[in-house]
Amino acid sequence: MQVTIKTPEDIAQMRIACRLASEVLDYITPFVKVGVSTGELDRLCHEYMVRVQGTVPAPLNYQPPGYLPYPKAICTSVNDVICHGIPDDKRILKSGDAVNLDITVITPEGYYGDTSRMFMVGEPSILCKRLTQITYECMWLGIAQVAPGKHLGDIGHAIQKHAETAGYSIVREYCGHGIGKTFHEEPQILHYGRPGSSMELKAGMIFTIEPMVNAGKRDIRTMPDQWTVKTRDRSLSAQWEHTVLVTENGYEVLTLSAGSPPPHRPR
Ligand code: MF3
Ligand code: CO
Ligand code: CO
Repeated sequence: MQVTIKTPEDIAQMRIACRLASEVLDYITPFVKVGVSTGELDRLCHEYMVRVQGTVPAPLNYQPPGYLPYPKAICTSVNDVICHGIPDDKRILKSGDAVNLDITVITPEGYYGDTSRMFMVGEPSILCKRLTQITYECMWLGIAQVAPGKHLGDIGHAIQKHAETAGYSIVREYCGHGIGKTFHEEPQILHYGRPGSSMELKAGMIFTIEPMVNAGKRDIRTMPDQWTVKTRDRSLSAQWEHTVLVTENGYEVLTLSAGSPPPHRPR
């Protein structure tokens, strides 16, 4: 499928879907504490989506070609899990854990909103705090590149440069993606690249920026459940994700809500 330019109606609907996805993260925030299981976080988010919002969790039974159906409503990626961690009643968060909660909702009108945040529980290590902060800055540096006439490579380069300057590495096997009435569509948003390379951005495109940054090497290892992706060297990994609209002047971040951490606006 080709890259779609969203209509004004699509954009209005995507603003709603994306705000709702972010509001699931607002809702779950006070529950992300030492002693809670990732399975419980999944149940709470699932119920909030279905009962309070009237949305549906996009991950549940999601099955790209060559994958098993994803068994839960959200992704919970703890410590050395890069992405697609499967919630589990036996995985109880302990002091020092860092978890990414990745939420994708589908509205009754059929639009997808996709966003994730990092949460640190108890007493995080200095490394964990720094990796989480640098990754957050990477996401915002990528977002700051978004404008008509800029290129996908500008986004990737800004992200890669910041991560690597800090001594960290960018995961290459997973990337951001176009989104709308489907979960994952063209274009792919690589979190590394060369300035001016790859596709030119046009107003009306909507895509995610979701850098995965490892404290150690970039290599990955997929677990036997066929979903959970870990760092091969067992180093910590962090990720943040927003869904972004290309506007006539620059960008609009769609996955913002009352509880979103303040934007990092690079100077
Ligand atoms: N939300 C993830 C993304 O950012 C995709 C998760 S797919 C799942 O693209 F099946 F693992 F949930
Ligand atoms: Co995404
Ligand atoms: Co996501």
